[in-house]
Amino acid sequence: MSTRPALSGYRKDFPALHQKVHGHPLVYLDNAATSQKPQVVIDALSNFYQCDNANVHRGIHELSHRASVAFEKTRERAARFINAQHTEEIIFTRGTTEAINLVANAWGSDAVKEGDVILLTEMEHHSNIVPWQMLARRTGAKLAFIPVTGDEGLLDLSRIDEFLTSKVRILALTHISNALGTINPVSELCAKARRMGIITLVDAAQSAGHSPLDVREIGCDFLALSGHKMCGPTGIGCLYGRLDLLETMSPWQGGGDMISNVDFHESQWNKVPHKFEAGTPNIADTIALHAAMDYLDEVGRERIAAHDTEIGSYAFEQLKRMGKIRLFGPREERSGLVSFLLHNIHAHDVVTFADQQGVALRGGHHCTQPLMKKLGVSSTSRASFYFYNTTEEVDHLIDVLRGIQKFFGE
Ligand code: ALA
Repeated sequence: MSTRPALSGYRKDFPALHQKVHGHPLVYLDNAATSQKPQVVIDALSNFYQCDNANVHRGIHELSHRASVAFEKTRERAARFINAQHTEEIIFTRGTTEAINLVANAWGSDAVKEGDVILLTEMEHHSNIVPWQMLARRTGAKLAFIPVTGDEGLLDLSRIDEFLTSKVRILALTHISNALGTINPVSELCAKARRMGIITLVDAAQSAGHSPLDVREIGCDFLALSGHKMCGPTGIGCLYGRLDLLETMSPWQGGGDMISNVDFHESQWNKVPHKFEAGTPNIADTIALHAAMDYLDEVGRERIAAHDTEIGSYAFEQLKRMGKIRLFGPREERSGLVSFLLHNIHAHDVVTFADQQGVALRGGHHCTQPLMKKLGVSSTSRASFYFYNTTEEVDHLIDVLRGIQKFFGE
Protein backbone atom coordinates (compact mmCIF):
# COMPACT_ATOMS: atom_id res chain seq x y z
CA MET A 1 0.00 0.00 0.00
CA SER A 2 1.29 3.49 -0.66
CA THR A 3 0.10 6.75 0.83
CA ARG A 4 -1.94 8.94 -1.49
CA PRO A 5 0.60 11.49 -2.77
CA ALA A 6 -1.89 14.35 -2.52
CA LEU A 7 -2.07 13.89 1.23
CA SER A 8 1.55 13.27 2.09
CA GLY A 9 2.15 16.35 -0.10
CA TYR A 10 0.60 18.45 2.68
CA ARG A 11 3.41 17.53 5.11
CA LYS A 12 5.43 20.51 3.95
CA ASP A 13 2.79 22.83 5.43
CA PHE A 14 3.59 21.68 9.00
CA PRO A 15 6.84 23.22 10.25
CA ALA A 16 6.97 21.15 13.47
CA LEU A 17 7.08 17.89 11.50
CA HIS A 18 10.45 18.80 9.98
CA GLN A 19 12.78 18.38 12.91
CA LYS A 20 14.97 15.79 14.58
CA VAL A 21 14.16 14.45 18.03
CA HIS A 22 17.01 12.75 19.93
CA GLY A 23 18.94 12.74 16.65
CA HIS A 24 16.18 11.02 14.62
CA PRO A 25 13.64 12.52 12.19
CA LEU A 26 10.43 13.13 14.13
CA VAL A 27 7.65 10.60 13.52
CA TYR A 28 4.65 12.25 15.13
CA LEU A 29 1.99 9.65 15.97
CA ASP A 30 0.18 11.41 18.81
CA ASN A 31 -2.50 13.15 16.78
CA ALA A 32 -5.39 12.01 18.95
CA ALA A 33 -3.84 14.08 21.74
CA THR A 34 -3.28 17.09 19.50
CA SER A 35 -2.55 17.61 15.82
CA GLN A 36 0.32 19.65 14.43
CA LYS A 37 -0.50 23.09 12.97
CA PRO A 38 -0.08 24.17 9.35
CA GLN A 39 1.71 27.44 8.60
CA VAL A 40 -1.57 29.14 7.54
CA VAL A 41 -2.94 28.66 11.07
CA ILE A 42 0.27 29.90 12.70
CA ASP A 43 0.17 32.92 10.36
CA ALA A 44 -3.50 33.66 11.14
CA LEU A 45 -2.65 33.71 14.84
CA SER A 46 0.36 35.99 14.53
CA ASN A 47 -1.34 38.26 11.94
CA PHE A 48 -4.17 38.88 14.37
CA TYR A 49 -1.78 39.94 17.12
CA GLN A 50 0.39 41.95 14.72
CA CYS A 51 -2.39 43.82 12.90
CA ASP A 52 -5.87 43.57 14.39
CA ASN A 53 -5.55 42.87 18.11
CA ALA A 54 -8.53 44.38 19.97
CA ASN A 55 -11.45 43.18 22.05
CA VAL A 56 -14.67 42.10 20.33
CA HIS A 57 -18.28 43.32 20.60
CA ARG A 58 -17.22 46.28 22.77
CA GLY A 59 -15.27 48.95 20.93
CA ILE A 60 -16.37 51.20 18.10
CA HIS A 61 -12.82 51.77 16.85
CA GLU A 62 -11.43 50.20 13.69
CA LEU A 63 -9.37 47.43 15.29
CA SER A 64 -12.27 46.30 17.45
CA HIS A 65 -14.50 46.31 14.38
CA ARG A 66 -12.02 44.13 12.47
CA ALA A 67 -11.62 41.73 15.39
CA SER A 68 -15.39 41.47 15.89
CA VAL A 69 -16.05 40.82 12.20
CA ALA A 70 -13.35 38.13 11.99
CA PHE A 71 -14.57 36.54 15.23
CA GLU A 72 -18.19 36.33 14.03
CA LYS A 73 -17.11 35.13 10.58
CA THR A 74 -15.53 32.15 12.35
CA ARG A 75 -18.90 31.36 13.87
CA GLU A 76 -20.43 31.33 10.34
CA ARG A 77 -17.55 29.16 9.15
CA ALA A 78 -17.98 26.71 12.03
CA ALA A 79 -21.72 26.45 11.29
CA ARG A 80 -20.91 25.58 7.67
CA PHE A 81 -18.18 23.16 8.77
CA ILE A 82 -20.71 20.98 10.61
CA ASN A 83 -23.76 21.95 8.50
CA ALA A 84 -25.64 23.63 11.36
CA GLN A 85 -28.86 25.28 10.23
CA HIS A 86 -28.23 28.53 12.13
CA THR A 87 -24.99 30.41 12.88
CA GLU A 88 -26.33 31.09 16.40
CA GLU A 89 -26.13 27.36 17.09
CA ILE A 90 -22.34 27.68 17.48
CA ILE A 91 -21.03 28.59 20.94
CA PHE A 92 -17.30 29.05 21.35
CA THR A 93 -15.75 27.17 24.25
CA ARG A 94 -12.22 26.27 25.30
CA GLY A 95 -12.76 22.85 23.77
CA THR A 96 -14.81 19.69 24.04
CA THR A 97 -14.45 19.45 27.83
CA GLU A 98 -15.83 22.92 28.42
CA ALA A 99 -18.61 22.34 25.87
CA ILE A 100 -19.80 19.22 27.73
CA ASN A 101 -19.56 20.99 31.08
CA LEU A 102 -21.66 23.81 29.60
CA VAL A 103 -24.42 21.36 28.64
CA ALA A 104 -24.26 19.49 31.96
CA ASN A 105 -24.66 22.80 33.79
CA ALA A 106 -26.83 25.01 31.59
CA TRP A 107 -29.14 22.30 30.27
CA GLY A 108 -28.71 19.62 32.94
CA SER A 109 -29.33 21.71 36.03
CA ASP A 110 -32.86 22.56 34.86
CA ALA A 111 -33.75 19.47 32.84
CA VAL A 112 -32.42 16.59 34.96
CA LYS A 113 -34.23 15.55 38.14
CA GLU A 114 -33.86 12.94 40.86
CA GLY A 115 -34.41 9.44 39.48
CA ASP A 116 -33.65 10.45 35.87
CA VAL A 117 -30.98 8.50 34.01
CA ILE A 118 -27.98 9.97 32.18
CA LEU A 119 -26.94 7.37 29.61
CA LEU A 120 -23.28 7.19 28.56
CA THR A 121 -21.09 4.41 27.16
CA GLU A 122 -18.22 2.50 28.75
CA MET A 123 -15.77 3.97 26.22
CA GLU A 124 -16.24 7.64 27.15
CA HIS A 125 -13.38 10.01 27.85
CA HIS A 126 -13.36 11.44 31.41
CA SER A 127 -14.66 14.70 29.93
CA ASN A 128 -17.88 12.90 28.99
CA ILE A 129 -18.21 11.15 32.36
CA VAL A 130 -17.13 13.47 35.15
CA PRO A 131 -19.42 16.46 34.29
CA TRP A 132 -22.35 14.02 34.35
CA GLN A 133 -21.24 12.52 37.66
CA MET A 134 -21.19 16.06 39.07
CA LEU A 135 -24.68 16.70 37.67
CA ALA A 136 -25.92 13.38 39.10
CA ARG A 137 -24.55 14.33 42.50
CA ARG A 138 -26.35 17.70 42.38
CA THR A 139 -29.67 16.34 41.15
CA GLY A 140 -29.95 12.76 42.41
CA ALA A 141 -29.98 11.40 38.83
CA LYS A 142 -28.31 8.07 38.05
CA LEU A 143 -25.69 7.16 35.45
CA ALA A 144 -25.95 4.15 33.16
CA PHE A 145 -23.42 2.90 30.60
CA ILE A 146 -23.93 1.08 27.31
CA PRO A 147 -21.38 -1.78 27.58
CA VAL A 148 -18.32 -2.31 25.41
CA THR A 149 -17.88 -5.84 24.06
CA GLY A 150 -14.25 -6.35 25.21
CA ASP A 151 -10.95 -5.92 23.36
CA GLU A 152 -12.81 -5.46 20.06
CA GLY A 153 -14.17 -2.27 21.58
CA LEU A 154 -17.61 -2.18 20.01
CA LEU A 155 -20.77 -0.96 21.74
CA ASP A 156 -22.97 -3.91 22.64
CA LEU A 157 -26.04 -2.69 20.80
CA SER A 158 -27.84 -6.01 21.23
CA ARG A 159 -28.76 -4.64 24.66
CA ILE A 160 -29.63 -1.10 23.61
CA ASP A 161 -33.36 -1.40 24.45
CA GLU A 162 -32.45 -2.32 28.04
CA PHE A 163 -30.65 1.00 28.31
CA LEU A 164 -32.77 3.43 26.28
CA THR A 165 -35.67 3.59 28.74
CA SER A 166 -38.26 6.28 29.42
CA LYS A 167 -36.18 7.38 32.45
CA VAL A 168 -33.25 8.47 30.25
CA ARG A 169 -33.00 12.26 29.85
CA ILE A 170 -29.82 12.39 27.79
CA LEU A 171 -27.65 10.02 25.78
CA ALA A 172 -24.10 11.41 25.58
CA LEU A 173 -21.58 9.39 23.58
CA THR A 174 -18.37 9.66 21.67
CA HIS A 175 -18.31 9.57 17.88
CA ILE A 176 -14.81 8.04 17.72
CA SER A 177 -13.15 6.46 20.77
CA ASN A 178 -9.76 8.03 21.58
CA ALA A 179 -8.66 4.82 23.30
CA LEU A 180 -9.96 2.15 20.89
CA GLY A 181 -10.44 3.76 17.49
CA THR A 182 -14.06 2.62 17.37
CA ILE A 183 -16.40 4.62 15.13
CA ASN A 184 -19.82 4.59 16.78
CA PRO A 185 -23.09 4.59 14.79
CA VAL A 186 -24.12 7.97 16.17
CA SER A 187 -26.82 8.74 13.56
CA GLU A 188 -28.59 5.46 14.29
CA LEU A 189 -28.39 5.93 18.07
CA CYS A 190 -29.48 9.58 17.96
CA ALA A 191 -32.48 8.64 15.78
CA LYS A 192 -33.49 5.94 18.25
CA ALA A 193 -33.11 8.31 21.20
CA ARG A 194 -35.00 11.11 19.42
CA ARG A 195 -38.00 8.83 18.83
CA MET A 196 -38.16 8.44 22.63
CA GLY A 197 -37.79 12.18 23.32
CA ILE A 198 -34.26 11.71 24.71
CA ILE A 199 -31.76 14.55 24.24
CA THR A 200 -28.47 13.56 22.58
CA LEU A 201 -24.91 14.85 22.78
CA VAL A 202 -22.10 13.69 20.51
CA ASP A 203 -18.45 14.10 21.55
CA ALA A 204 -16.81 14.78 18.18
CA ALA A 205 -13.33 15.56 19.54
CA GLN A 206 -11.75 12.70 17.57
CA SER A 207 -13.91 12.95 14.46
CA ALA A 208 -14.29 16.66 13.69
CA GLY A 209 -11.04 17.08 11.78
CA HIS A 210 -11.00 13.56 10.41
CA SER A 211 -14.21 13.15 8.44
CA PRO A 212 -17.12 15.17 7.08
CA LEU A 213 -19.41 16.08 9.96
CA ASP A 214 -23.08 16.98 9.51
CA VAL A 215 -25.10 17.66 12.66
CA ARG A 216 -28.36 17.49 10.73
CA GLU A 217 -27.50 14.10 9.30
CA ILE A 218 -26.38 12.85 12.74
CA GLY A 219 -29.56 14.31 14.21
CA CYS A 220 -28.01 15.19 17.59
CA ASP A 221 -29.15 18.00 19.90
CA PHE A 222 -25.61 18.89 20.99
CA LEU A 223 -22.17 18.23 19.53
CA ALA A 224 -18.78 19.19 20.99
CA LEU A 225 -15.43 19.59 19.24
CA SER A 226 -11.90 20.81 19.96
CA GLY A 227 -9.93 23.01 17.55
CA HIS A 228 -6.49 21.73 18.55
CA LYS A 229 -7.17 18.18 17.33
CA MET A 230 -8.06 19.51 13.86
CA CYS A 231 -5.08 21.70 12.94
CA GLY A 232 -6.34 24.63 15.01
CA PRO A 233 -4.90 26.24 18.14
CA THR A 234 -5.33 24.97 21.69
CA GLY A 235 -7.92 26.64 23.90
CA ILE A 236 -10.70 26.94 21.32
CA GLY A 237 -13.55 24.62 20.48
CA CYS A 238 -17.24 24.70 19.73
CA LEU A 239 -20.46 23.52 21.18
CA TYR A 240 -23.23 23.04 18.65
CA GLY A 241 -26.70 23.16 20.18
CA ARG A 242 -30.11 23.04 18.51
CA LEU A 243 -31.35 26.65 18.51
CA ASP A 244 -34.76 26.04 20.09
CA LEU A 245 -33.09 24.10 22.90
CA LEU A 246 -30.41 26.74 23.50
CA GLU A 247 -33.12 29.37 23.73
CA THR A 248 -34.79 27.54 26.63
CA MET A 249 -31.53 27.13 28.57
CA SER A 250 -30.19 29.39 31.33
CA PRO A 251 -26.62 30.65 31.10
CA TRP A 252 -23.99 28.87 33.16
CA GLN A 253 -21.34 31.55 33.63
CA GLY A 254 -22.12 35.21 34.37
CA GLY A 255 -20.13 38.26 33.30
CA GLY A 256 -19.64 40.67 30.44
CA ASP A 257 -21.21 40.08 27.02
CA MET A 258 -23.75 37.47 28.18
CA ILE A 259 -26.24 40.10 29.41
CA SER A 260 -28.58 42.60 27.75
CA ASN A 261 -29.16 44.65 30.93
CA VAL A 262 -27.75 44.57 34.46
CA ASP A 263 -29.21 46.16 37.60
CA PHE A 264 -27.79 45.93 41.09
CA HIS A 265 -30.01 42.98 41.96
CA GLU A 266 -30.88 41.30 38.70
CA SER A 267 -29.99 41.02 35.03
CA GLN A 268 -31.47 40.05 31.68
CA TRP A 269 -29.60 37.72 29.36
CA ASN A 270 -28.21 38.44 25.91
CA LYS A 271 -29.44 36.45 22.90
CA VAL A 272 -28.09 33.01 21.96
CA PRO A 273 -25.18 32.36 21.46
CA HIS A 274 -23.76 35.33 23.44
CA LYS A 275 -25.78 34.25 26.51
CA PHE A 276 -23.30 31.37 26.81
CA GLU A 277 -20.08 33.33 26.19
CA ALA A 278 -19.30 35.33 29.33
CA GLY A 279 -16.20 37.52 29.38
CA THR A 280 -13.59 38.28 26.76
CA PRO A 281 -13.46 35.23 24.50
CA ASN A 282 -10.40 33.54 23.04
CA ILE A 283 -10.38 35.89 20.05
CA ALA A 284 -7.05 35.09 18.39
CA ASP A 285 -7.46 31.33 18.58
CA THR A 286 -11.04 31.56 17.31
CA ILE A 287 -9.88 33.49 14.25
CA ALA A 288 -7.06 30.98 13.66
CA LEU A 289 -9.63 28.17 13.90
CA HIS A 290 -11.25 29.70 10.81
CA ALA A 291 -7.97 29.21 8.95
CA ALA A 292 -7.81 25.59 10.20
CA MET A 293 -11.30 24.80 8.93
CA ASP A 294 -10.54 26.36 5.53
CA TYR A 295 -7.33 24.37 5.37
CA LEU A 296 -9.02 21.06 6.24
CA ASP A 297 -11.63 21.61 3.56
CA GLU A 298 -8.90 22.39 1.06
CA VAL A 299 -7.29 19.02 1.89
CA GLY A 300 -10.76 17.45 1.81
CA ARG A 301 -12.34 15.71 4.78
CA GLU A 302 -13.53 12.79 2.62
CA ARG A 303 -9.93 12.22 1.60
CA ILE A 304 -8.72 12.57 5.20
CA ALA A 305 -11.27 9.94 6.31
CA ALA A 306 -10.16 7.56 3.54
CA HIS A 307 -6.50 8.10 4.48
CA ASP A 308 -7.27 7.51 8.20
CA THR A 309 -9.02 4.24 7.37
CA GLU A 310 -6.17 3.04 5.19
CA ILE A 311 -3.35 3.95 7.51
CA GLY A 312 -5.24 2.75 10.62
CA SER A 313 -5.95 -0.65 9.03
CA TYR A 314 -2.40 -0.92 7.72
CA ALA A 315 -0.97 -0.20 11.19
CA PHE A 316 -3.37 -2.65 12.82
CA GLU A 317 -2.39 -5.45 10.42
CA GLN A 318 1.34 -4.77 10.75
CA LEU A 319 1.09 -4.76 14.56
CA LYS A 320 -0.87 -8.02 14.49
CA ARG A 321 1.86 -9.66 12.41
CA MET A 322 4.50 -8.75 15.02
CA GLY A 323 3.09 -11.25 17.55
CA LYS A 324 3.35 -11.02 21.36
CA ILE A 325 0.98 -8.09 21.26
CA ARG A 326 -2.54 -7.40 22.53
CA LEU A 327 -4.54 -5.15 20.21
CA PHE A 328 -7.56 -3.12 21.23
CA GLY A 329 -10.39 -1.80 19.11
CA PRO A 330 -12.34 -3.04 16.08
CA ARG A 331 -10.78 -5.50 13.68
CA GLU A 332 -12.33 -3.62 10.78
CA GLU A 333 -14.00 -0.28 10.09
CA ARG A 334 -11.69 1.45 12.53
CA SER A 335 -10.47 5.03 12.65
CA GLY A 336 -6.87 6.16 12.28
CA LEU A 337 -5.55 5.11 15.66
CA VAL A 338 -4.32 1.87 17.21
CA SER A 339 -4.05 0.98 20.89
CA PHE A 340 -1.86 -1.93 21.94
CA LEU A 341 0.18 -3.60 24.66
CA LEU A 342 3.40 -5.49 23.97
CA HIS A 343 3.46 -8.64 26.12
CA ASN A 344 5.33 -8.12 29.42
CA ILE A 345 6.40 -4.57 28.54
CA HIS A 346 4.79 -1.58 30.23
CA ALA A 347 3.15 0.97 27.92
CA HIS A 348 5.26 3.76 29.44
CA ASP A 349 8.46 1.83 28.64
CA VAL A 350 7.31 1.47 25.03
CA VAL A 351 6.61 5.18 24.74
CA THR A 352 9.88 6.15 26.42
CA PHE A 353 11.96 3.87 24.18
CA ALA A 354 10.08 4.99 21.06
CA ASP A 355 10.70 8.63 21.97
CA GLN A 356 14.46 7.93 22.03
CA GLN A 357 14.06 6.90 18.36
CA GLY A 358 12.12 10.08 17.50
CA VAL A 359 8.69 8.37 17.50
CA ALA A 360 6.00 10.22 19.47
CA LEU A 361 3.36 7.85 20.89
CA ARG A 362 1.07 8.15 23.87
CA GLY A 363 1.02 5.69 26.75
CA GLY A 364 -1.40 5.75 29.66
CA HIS A 365 -5.08 5.44 30.39
CA HIS A 366 -5.98 8.03 27.72
CA CYS A 367 -8.40 9.70 30.17
CA THR A 368 -10.56 6.57 29.97
CA GLN A 369 -9.85 4.92 33.32
CA PRO A 370 -13.26 3.18 33.58
CA LEU A 371 -12.71 1.59 30.14
CA MET A 372 -9.18 0.50 31.11
CA LYS A 373 -10.57 -1.11 34.28
CA LYS A 374 -13.20 -2.91 32.22
CA LEU A 375 -10.46 -4.22 29.91
CA GLY A 376 -8.36 -5.24 32.92
CA VAL A 377 -5.39 -3.02 32.08
CA SER A 378 -4.00 0.18 33.58
CA SER A 379 -2.72 1.64 30.33
CA THR A 380 -2.05 1.03 26.65
CA SER A 381 0.35 2.44 24.07
CA ARG A 382 -1.33 4.33 21.26
CA ALA A 383 -0.30 5.45 17.79
CA SER A 384 -2.71 7.95 16.26
CA PHE A 385 -2.44 9.17 12.69
CA TYR A 386 -3.39 12.17 10.59
CA PHE A 387 -3.36 12.89 6.89
CA TYR A 388 0.31 13.93 6.94
CA ASN A 389 1.43 10.53 8.26
CA THR A 390 2.72 7.93 5.84
CA THR A 391 2.86 4.15 5.74
CA GLU A 392 6.66 4.49 5.82
CA GLU A 393 6.23 6.02 9.27
CA VAL A 394 4.12 3.02 10.29
CA ASP A 395 6.88 0.70 9.02
CA HIS A 396 9.40 2.66 11.07
CA LEU A 397 7.14 2.33 14.15
CA ILE A 398 7.07 -1.45 13.66
CA ASP A 399 10.89 -1.58 13.42
CA VAL A 400 11.18 0.46 16.60
CA LEU A 401 8.67 -1.80 18.42
CA ARG A 402 10.57 -4.92 17.30
CA GLY A 403 13.73 -3.33 18.72
CA ILE A 404 11.94 -2.76 22.02
CA GLN A 405 10.77 -6.39 22.12
CA LYS A 406 14.31 -7.53 21.49
CA PHE A 407 15.70 -5.25 24.20
CA PHE A 408 13.24 -6.68 26.74
CA GLY A 409 13.99 -10.23 25.63
CA GLU A 410 10.54 -10.85 24.16
N1 ALA B 1 -8.05 13.19 24.84
C1 ALA B 1 -6.74 13.33 24.33
C2 ALA B 1 -6.10 12.01 24.01
O1 ALA B 1 -6.78 11.05 23.80
C3 ALA B 1 -5.89 14.18 25.17
O2 ALA B 1 -4.90 11.93 23.95
